[in-house]
Amino acid sequence: MIPSYVLKGIFLDTPTPGELRCREGYALCRGGHFAGFYSALPQDLAALPLHDFSGQLILPGMCDLHLHAPQYSYCGTAMDLELLDWLQRYTYPEEGRYRDVAYARRGYTNLTRDLLHSATTRICAFATLHTDATLELMRQLSEAGIRGYVGKLAMDRNSPDFYREVTPEAGLAETRRWLDACTHGEYPGVLPMLTPRFTPSTSDAYMEGLGQLSREYGVAAQSHLSENLSEIEWVKALCPGTAFYAESYARYGLFGGEQPCVMAHCIYCPEEEDELIRRNGVFIAHCPTSNENVIAGIAPAARYLREGYHIGLGSDVAGGHTLNLFAVMASAVQVSKLRWRYVDKSQSPLTIPETLYMATSGGGALFGKVGLFEEGYAFDAIVLDDSALLNHLPFTPGERLERYAYLSDGRPQAKFVDGRRLF
Ligand code: GUN
Ligand code: FE
Repeated sequence: MIPSYVLKGIFLDTPTPGELRCREGYALCRGGHFAGFYSALPQDLAALPLHDFSGQLILPGMCDLHLHAPQYSYCGTAMDLELLDWLQRYTYPEEGRYRDVAYARRGYTNLTRDLLHSATTRICAFATLHTDATLELMRQLSEAGIRGYVGKLAMDRNSPDFYREVTPEAGLAETRRWLDACTHGEYPGVLPMLTPRFTPSTSDAYMEGLGQLSREYGVAAQSHLSENLSEIEWVKALCPGTAFYAESYARYGLFGGEQPCVMAHCIYCPEEEDELIRRNGVFIAHCPTSNENVIAGIAPAARYLREGYHIGLGSDVAGGHTLNLFAVMASAVQVSKLRWRYVDKSQSPLTIPETLYMATSGGGALFGKVGLFEEGYAFDAIVLDDSALLNHLPFTPGERLERYAYLSDGRPQAKFVDGRRLF
């Protein structure tokens, strides 16, 4: 049990999508949860330890709803191809190397170190199709104090032989071995998520087996949806019985409803697909930096947010070139302007408070009471040092946040997860 303490500073959070709430004072952490906010410290709390960050901005820890852990090694390179060619040319060769657990350990050590020092407190990560390397990632994240979900990939078609499971039966047996090794709290704070890479990678028989495992183990699912026009055409050809892409997951029970579900991108969803996303409470992971780099397109994120869909942000490393969710927030604003200019004038561009909402409470809802400084919420917080960005102008806290999003490296000065101070 974490002893109670008090954190002092300028607290910013987003109870609703457009609203930036700013409160200066003291937050009480009790039992790893947020337990009260005070503009002056009450007498009965005066004896508790105080982490004093007077004058500094404190935000809820951020949730990265979509990243590819093994791709971190080539992050910031391989920017010259569209998605399907990019996967074959760059992604599968590097992910294939994670068969070697020693290689995986090195890659995941670098990722975990950088995630730890980022704004991110909770993640939904894709690993590779290798069970033991995936468990190694879960171990490292858990020991570092990062919370969330990790997926061993399910892939039995349309990738090279060196990076493909040979049959659905073999893949399902490995998936079961993996679930048996990680569903009982073996990696505290880190849980499995079933992860068909995307429909082109996962046969119907494999998908059906994953649906059964999802029900048997009570495990959530994640994948990609309607990211790229060639991908969508390909899914149509592969799944003749479906009316739209999401049905290739939904017909096997892998599209929310009973179990939580995260779908990355959702750029080109037809109306019926949107309807199913909403009805099943599927979380959309909006990944604007990735959408730019692999030239996928611009997701209608402003509409999803304003119409009340579950939506969070994803770095989608290494389609996305950075783990820094502040940079992803800024990119979300920027690409929403391009969408407004070139695609659809019906939604005004996103604002920084709206993108903060997606990075914190929007995505955080996947993990329970996460992403707000409110009674009963997990005490996840990051403390920003923006002293290098201050000047003679009297910036408001909201402007300081905006400058931090556009101008900083996104590495907080201190970080708390479930009340535990990580640094
Ligand atoms: N679709 C299937 N695999 C991937 C991947 O690794 N990255 C992205 N951006 N899209 C995908
Ligand atoms: Fe992705």
